[in-house]
Amino acid sequence: MRLVSRSEEDTVKQGELYSAGLKAGDIIGLDGNLGTGKTQFVKGIAKGFRVREIVNSPTFIIVNEYEGHIENRLIKIFHFDLYRLGTPAELGTLGFDEYTGEDSICLIEWPDLAEKYLGKPLKKVKFSYGKGENERIIEINH
Ligand SMILES: Nc1ncnc2c1ncn2[C@@H]1O[C@H](COP(=O)(O)OP(=O)(O)O)[C@@H](O)[C@H]1O
Ligand SMILES: [Mg+2]
Repeated sequence: MRLVSRSEEDTVKQGELYSAGLKAGDIIGLDGNLGTGKTQFVKGIAKGFRVREIVNSPTFIIVNEYEGHIENRLIKIFHFDLYRLGTPAELGTLGFDEYTGEDSICLIEWPDLAEKYLGKPLKKVKFSYGKGENERIIEINH
C-alpha cells in the first residue's frame, strides 16, 4: 500500500489508522531519511493506543517507553531511534531482547542495525519525500 501524506496531521492520522492492525509482540521498522515523518507516524500509533505521555523523538536516548491500551488491557510501546547506534552488538548491551517480548510493541526508527542484530528482516513502513514541501510517501507492504 502506498499512501501520500500532504501534511504532518495527515501522517499522524495514518499512524493512528495503522495502529489498528498492530498486536502485542509486533516489531516494526520505520525506514526513511531524516524528516520524512517517522516520528510523526509514531505519534499517531501512540494516539491509536490511547497513550497519554507526550511522544518525542528518542534520538539521543535511543528508546522511549509509553504505556498504551488495547481495549482495557495495558500494553507497553517501545519507540527506538537507532540513528546514533554504532554496532548491532550495542543492542545487546541495551538489553534489546527485554523490549521485544510478547506483551509489548516495538517501533524502530533506523532499523538496519536491529535487523542485523536479530538476523532477520523486520516488517517495515517506508517513508520518503514527495513532490511538495509537505508531501511524504508512506509505503506499507505487510
Ligand atoms: N506530510 C508530512 N508528514 C510528516 N511530517 C511532515 C509532513 N510535512 C511536513 N512535515 C514536517 O516534517 C518533519 C517530520 O519530522 P519527523 O516526524 O521527526 O521525521 P523523522 O522522524 O522521519 O526524522 C516535521 O517537522 C513535520 O512538521
Ligand atoms: Mg524521528
